[in-house]
Amino acid sequence: MIKSISIIEGDGIGPEVIKQTIKVLNSIAKKYGHKFHYKNLLAGSKAIEKFGDPMPEETINHCLKADAVLFGCIGDPKYDHNPKGMRPEDGLLKLRKKMNLYCNIRPISIFPKLDKSPIKKELLNNVDFIIYRELTGGVYFGEKGRYKNGDKAYDHCIYSKKEIEKIGEKAFKAALFRKKKVTLVDKANVLETSRLWREVIKKISLDYPSIDLDFLYIDNASMQIIMNPKKFDIILTDNMFGDILSEESSVLTSSLGLLPSASIGDDKSMFEPIHGSYPQAEGKNIANPLGCILSGSMMLEYFGMYREKNLLEEAVKDSIEKEICTPDIIDSKLSSTTEEVGDYIKKYIIHQ
Ligand code: IPM
Repeated sequence: MIKSISIIEGDGIGPEVIKQTIKVLNSIAKKYGHKFHYKNLLAGSKAIEKFGDPMPEETINHCLKADAVLFGCIGDPKYDHNPKGMRPEDGLLKLRKKMNLYCNIRPISIFPKLDKSPIKKELLNNVDFIIYRELTGGVYFGEKGRYKNGDKAYDHCIYSKKEIEKIGEKAFKAALFRKKKVTLVDKANVLETSRLWREVIKKISLDYPSIDLDFLYIDNASMQIIMNPKKFDIILTDNMFGDILSEESSVLTSSLGLLPSASIGDDKSMFEPIHGSYPQAEGKNIANPLGCILSGSMMLEYFGMYREKNLLEEAVKDSIEKEICTPDIIDSKLSSTTEEVGDYIKKYIIHQ
């Protein structure tokens, strides 16, 4: 297969984790006779510096035409006080919206070898759930502003039935191939948008009689994810709650640096690790590339390259088993560099 992939390295450790991911994807392409055509594009702080815009039109246009986008990470404290629309994060939000990537899929599973989670080991066995986070609506995209000379601020949270239906369908379909359970996480005891979510999701569930649907308030869900994480299969939730719950869930896995994600629309897609730009680690060759590499594996699955995805994930598991790991997930005296982890995975793929 021939695929065009837009690459946005972004800020901080972005270029380092993307470099390892491309190395690994190239070894997959070579082994299976695919051609991946990459196009490097600017976004975030580098785009602010060059074009005065965190998400230039040129980047958006290329991403819209590509078969998929691979995204590193974004954010630079230098621009934290930029005006509305001009922060690096605003660029990412704009791209998600322009590509209509309304469904963000964040799998949470455990590598038994790792023990950096502060949660008791016995609670972690067989934890395997996926967060379906709505990505282009809610409080992130509602009108926001200041009034009373800046003394008061507001962020509107708005959802339409249509927006909830679209991600709801995807979540139920995914549950059919898993443990057949969807948990809707919301704050329906307080928020009207949450009550609309319940209404719409209950209706969708009628078309999926084999799926168990249950409801949890976000406050309770935050506790259950730590106390009883095995109980979850698919967590379906809105933009803001999904952002927070996925970061909380990363604590179960040993490191935020391990977690991948796929952002899917009707016909567009972007793949990005969950972690941020981690500026303190930039250029030190210590960043964990696995979140980005596993996002690459989600991209292979999206392309229908199932054997390729399986081999890549087997290589990642093997690197962890053999303790070829960055210092966030292993004793730092024994750790490997970002580059060494990428090299090991590449070699494993080539030699299989
Ligand atoms: C994420 C990030 C982003 C978000 C930021 C960088 C805007 O935290 O992808 O989880 O909040 O969606």
